[in-house]
Amino acid sequence: MNQGTGPFRPDLLQGKTVLVTGGATGLGRAMAEGFAELGARIALAGRREEKLREAEALLSAAGCDVYVHSCDVRDPAAIAALADALDSRFGGIDVLVNNAAGNFISPTERLSHRAVDAVLNIVLHGTFYTTLEFGKRWIDAGRSGTMLNIVTTYAETGSAFVVPSAAAKAGVLALTRSLAVEWARYGIRQVAIAPGPFPTEGAWSRLLPTPELAQNMIDRIPLGRVGSKEELVHLAAFLVSDYAAYLNGECVTIDGGEWLQGAGQFNGLLDVTDDQWDQLAAMIKSTKS
Ligand code: HXC
Ligand code: NAP
Repeated sequence: MNQGTGPFRPDLLQGKTVLVTGGATGLGRAMAEGFAELGARIALAGRREEKLREAEALLSAAGCDVYVHSCDVRDPAAIAALADALDSRFGGIDVLVNNAAGNFISPTERLSHRAVDAVLNIVLHGTFYTTLEFGKRWIDAGRSGTMLNIVTTYAETGSAFVVPSAAAKAGVLALTRSLAVEWARYGIRQVAIAPGPFPTEGAWSRLLPTPELAQNMIDRIPLGRVGSKEELVHLAAFLVSDYAAYLNGECVTIDGGEWLQGAGQFNGLLDVTDDQWDQLAAMIKSTKS
């Protein structure tokens, strides 16, 4: 991404080893590149070997100490093998970014139980399995660490047409908040990011596959635009850094105000013109009772 170090000193993440699941594409890859520019050693996990190799080449060309490992987060044995490999290669990790996800839009009544499982197994079970594997290792080793979970704004509210994802991300948010309390005594910190719309091939092809759907989404955002990867990366870098050491259990929304726009009862009044406001004010002021 070559974004420079943004608002940060260039050694912000020096000495930290960060594992990003689903880190070979999209937002995961952007975070990996951004963290590398801030001095982190990077490990990437995902299913597709060719995507991992592509990201590895890019990161190592930029001077990053990078390790990639094909791993399906739905498979606890594969996660244990990944953790063993990271123990050998880096002596363990300091930050786990649970970013891997699966999702698509569909009327819920059209889903088979296998379609429900496809999403729940990646998002909820996969995140739980990696959290458990690396959490246990940190606790056994007396090592502190940070877990950053990438959720969605509808983890709080639910959303029609992405119901398995909404249920799974709500579960991940509950995991974040629960372990923030339970594992703080081991020096393990939990944080989450709830991104609004950030264009990536993976999300757009499955969730906003036509220009009309994409434009409808943009029209809902008070700031009138989608997010940029750099904006998300800067937030993530701060949250996993030692400067956020007192943040625990917090989920930070970065969505241009989109979810609040959908929530406020009178938000539809954004469409009222100045002339209409004049008329409405006159009507209201003339009301005597
Ligand atoms: C209905 C579908 C479907 C669809 C798959 N299925 N796609 N059903 N509508 N569009 C069904 C299949 O028919 C099958 O059920 C079952 O789901 C499993 O399908 P597989 O293709 O075998 O699954 P799998 O190979 O495990 O792939 C998982 C996946 C896929 C989730 C379906 O899309 C994937 O790999 N996604 C990873 C990347 C991704 O989704 N990125 C987006 C993240 S964005 P049957 O009954 O036929 O066997 C995000 C938040 C975005 O999370 C917020 C947006 C602004
Ligand atoms: P993406 O590029 O499709 O990222 C998903 C990644 O997860 C891919 O690299 C994928 O790689 C990996 N993955 C999927 N299933 C896996 C499995 N079983 N095991 C290991 N890795 C797996 O989409 P993205 O937009 O960057 O999404 C990244 C994160 O941001 C996700 O958590 C998503 O829910 C969240 N998010 C995105 C947006 C947005 O607007 N883009 C909004 C809200 C939240 P493989 O297929 O090679 O395994």
